Amino acid sequence: MSMDKIEILKLDHFGRGIGYINQKVVFVENALPNEVVEVDIVEEKKQYCIGKVKKYIETSEKRMKPFCTYYNCCGGCKLEHMSYVNSVQFKKEKIQNIFDQAKITLPEIQVLLNEHPKNYRNKLSLHIVNQKYGFFEEKSHRFIEIKSCFLAQPAINQFLKQVFKLNVKNGSMIIRTNYNEELLIHLKTKDPVTFHPEDFVDCKIVGVILNKKTIYGDHFFYERVNGYLFKVSYDAFFQINPYITAKLFSTIEEKLLSNGRVLDLYSGVGTLGIIASKKAEMVYSVEIIKNAVLDNIENKKLNQKENIQVFLGKAEEVLKKIKIDFDTILIDPPRKGLDKSSLPILLNSHAKQIIYISCDPMTLVRDIKFLKQKYTIEEYYLLDMFSYTYHVESICILKRKQERLGK
Ligand SMILES: C[S@@+](CC[C@H](N)C(=O)[O-])C[C@H]1O[C@@H](n2cnc3c(N)ncnc32)[C@H](O)[C@@H]1O
Repeated sequence: MSMDKIEILKLDHFGRGIGYINQKVVFVENALPNEVVEVDIVEEKKQYCIGKVKKYIETSEKRMKPFCTYYNCCGGCKLEHMSYVNSVQFKKEKIQNIFDQAKITLPEIQVLLNEHPKNYRNKLSLHIVNQKYGFFEEKSHRFIEIKSCFLAQPAINQFLKQVFKLNVKNGSMIIRTNYNEELLIHLKTKDPVTFHPEDFVDCKIVGVILNKKTIYGDHFFYERVNGYLFKVSYDAFFQINPYITAKLFSTIEEKLLSNGRVLDLYSGVGTLGIIASKKAEMVYSVEIIKNAVLDNIENKKLNQKENIQVFLGKAEEVLKKIKIDFDTILIDPPRKGLDKSSLPILLNSHAKQIIYISCDPMTLVRDIKFLKQKYTIEEYYLLDMFSYTYHVESICILKRKQERLGK
């Protein structure tokens, strides 16, 4: 391990400072452009090094004091040393960079800010090690016990204070909360668990699931967004930031063109399809998780929608089978983006509009690179769903290019 002094020139996509030692790139966490830092080189590869700040020699006027005691170790909010405004500016530049590198022209990126950049998360996933609850540090895999989380909603932190009462030794736990501050707890452990709701003060626990078995209450709760009501099972996806989810849903509702057939690919509990069904003749939802599909069927009834057909299966497989021409396609995949085999099918679908919702701009740009053969980007929204982390949510609205008439 050696020690060197470097000047930080810019940030990479993970918010790490970039500097150079003897023309070799060095990535440094918690370092901002224009700062001069002394670093320990903690990892040396052929192409790059990883540096850890030992001492700040010159600091940026943009530097903020991180508010979390676990900053720098839990791996969650990597951007706490920036002001909120600067962290969003970083995300905007990151997206612009990714698209510039791919030589894809973007329209003006429209930013939808998070008015609650702290205590917004409705879900926290923790490991349990020797009756302690926490995260594994990135790379080192050192266990970091946490007593509360600045990103999590108060209902989750209230439960976390008392979680030791469960007496679980080892395993993992997902704590979810909803619009009504109710709690749904999913434990995975081989240890015996007996749950007594009266042990937990000021906690509205509505369900405890042990491995796959409900041992208390229900295996689901309800979410309410923009007047819609959604049943959400413990293993079904729901957006983690309610403030931004409301903006995401209203943007989709406003921008969606179709009064024809809409495909809702990667539909979760059916949120976007239900919103789209207001304007559409028919919505076709596709989702891989069985409980989410069952929730979607229930959610159709809850929101009095009949024009929705739900498919259980892999998007890439269902797409090959359903021979329907769609007018609008909604795509909201996990981070890995679209399956390669889906791209030509979507490209040749003749849909006038594709709305691609993405939580990873790298896979988004990869998929757009293919779709741009027949589509242009009309609008681009950056939603600050994951404040103070380097993650970013996007809505990319694509319009089909006018096709030339054949001779
Ligand atoms: C980002 S979430 C979007 C859910 C929904 N659109 C929403 O906003 O609540 C992605 C969803 O895709 C589902 N999924 C993951 N891989 C899939 C696949 N290969 N085929 C279909 N659905 C998949 C996940 O279970 C999850 O519900």
